[in-house]
Amino acid sequence: MTSSGPVDPTTTSAWAELARLAEAFRPDLRGALTPAWVGDQSLEAAELHVDLSKNLFDADVEAALLRLAEEVDLAGRREAMFAGEHINVTEDRAVLHTALRLPRGASLTVDGQDVVADVHEVLDRVYAFAERVRSGDWTGVTGKRIETVVNIGIGGSDLGPVMAYEALEPYRQDGLTCRFISNIDPTDAGQKLSGLDPETTLFIVSSKTFGTLETLTNARLCKAWLLEHLPSGTDEKAAVAQHFVAVSTALDKVADFGIDPANAFGFWDWVGGRYSMDSAIGLSLVVAIGPEHFAELLAGFHAMDEHFRTAPAESNVPLKMGLLNVWYTNFLGAHTHAVLPYAQLLHRFPAYLQQLTMESNGKSVRWDGAAVGYDTGEVFWGEPGTNGQHAFYQLIHQGTRIIPADFIAFATPSYGLRDGDTDVHELFLANFFAQTKALAFGKTADEVRAEGVAEDLVAARTFPGNRPTTSIMAPALTPGVLGQLIALYEHITFVEGAVWGIDSFDQWGVELGKQLAQQLGPAVSGDADVLAQQDPSTQSLISYYQEHRA
Ligand code: F6P
Repeated sequence: MTSSGPVDPTTTSAWAELARLAEAFRPDLRGALTPAWVGDQSLEAAELHVDLSKNLFDADVEAALLRLAEEVDLAGRREAMFAGEHINVTEDRAVLHTALRLPRGASLTVDGQDVVADVHEVLDRVYAFAERVRSGDWTGVTGKRIETVVNIGIGGSDLGPVMAYEALEPYRQDGLTCRFISNIDPTDAGQKLSGLDPETTLFIVSSKTFGTLETLTNARLCKAWLLEHLPSGTDEKAAVAQHFVAVSTALDKVADFGIDPANAFGFWDWVGGRYSMDSAIGLSLVVAIGPEHFAELLAGFHAMDEHFRTAPAESNVPLKMGLLNVWYTNFLGAHTHAVLPYAQLLHRFPAYLQQLTMESNGKSVRWDGAAVGYDTGEVFWGEPGTNGQHAFYQLIHQGTRIIPADFIAFATPSYGLRDGDTDVHELFLANFFAQTKALAFGKTADEVRAEGVAEDLVAARTFPGNRPTTSIMAPALTPGVLGQLIALYEHITFVEGAVWGIDSFDQWGVELGKQLAQQLGPAVSGDADVLAQQDPSTQSLISYYQEHRA
């Protein structure tokens, strides 16, 4: 970084060196995986054990990547983030999700404000409120205990809480269930409200801006549903006060909606939506798993923050994983990146990562406005193993494209079940180990022939190997480990953005569609003049809708 703008990474000597290395690079994981290499590339970050050895790189590539990090002053940008400098340049904001997990009493003053004290003041309120709901002290307006919490939010105000609610299922309190309404498709609210008892339902309206169309529409739908279904004669104001709370940075708008400001939980503009699940946005999760477990989750985040901030470059896991992603994207031609948790409870983790990584790094200009002259932003995607093995792994094994894949597994299962003498978790893990082995080493034509396969089928049954994977393991899927995993990917995302010189913390690309949806609303509802102003394709599609709506 310079005072005038980010370094164009392509002008660094490391970039030129990487280009040269890429040209001559002939991956050979069969030959490369010596005990020494595996030892060097098996790293510990908090409780995570990360094996990078099956990636397509060698010591020269690694040295050049680390030099690239130096030449773009990645460490300087990292310190600027942790210190609360306004590294979100296009919105002139600090980027301080790491402050959300600083321990009580830590010291960090940003823009004249003691942010640690602020964070813990809100956390204390969140915890106290959650305890009231969990203990039955907080009731609905008719005096009944809350049994269902419905979080209404979208994007960062939904994906994190849902993902963690699913991931930490064994930590949930019996008798309390969460549901999540995000989509403006009325089917979402329709399905999620179905079967609920309004007297025992609490709604949390979660929106950083409190201006998001989907969330406010769903909040109004839920309010109408509540008032319609509570016993007749129930005082409406009291009902909303007991059944609606809010999480937002815009507390004035919360009051306008009719929610008692005493039941609103704030956060700050220096928390990006996709980095907010460890702020009050996690309220539904705190109610579900309790303050103690949420505190463990925060401690997990913090442990990874400390690792990222202080571990030497050679053993710094987020740094090395982020740099490898740059290598794959800019030098080996990868477009996508698979995340494959061998843990059913992480089934929403890839979806969560999609917002984190793609809203952050899907940018074509650097943070000083200059166009990038290189690719940015991998497409992240994935599904839990072993389901994916029976769906899309074919393409990872034998397709024509390189798809770096992160495999995630836990030594101890969330549910330990046996099939007679067989520990089913061991069967499951055998698949986890087998897949990265198959991807790395493949199967040669000679090996296929040696199995007696007819010559005309040898090519189809050959596996090229040299398909890059990272294996991430941890003792168990605990709240702390989940926090470490999320923070790991936050920092990987940061590293990629820092190398590319982009602002990973704005999201201007979501605005145009929102504006156009507002403009098109009247046309969809039948305003012929507005319809006539649209392009022919849009006119034709809206007309189709109008003709076919039942
Ligand atoms: O439209 C994108 C976005 O702004 C995300 O960045 C954000 O997480 C989501 O919408 C929801 O925003 P809010 O929390 O303000 O309702």
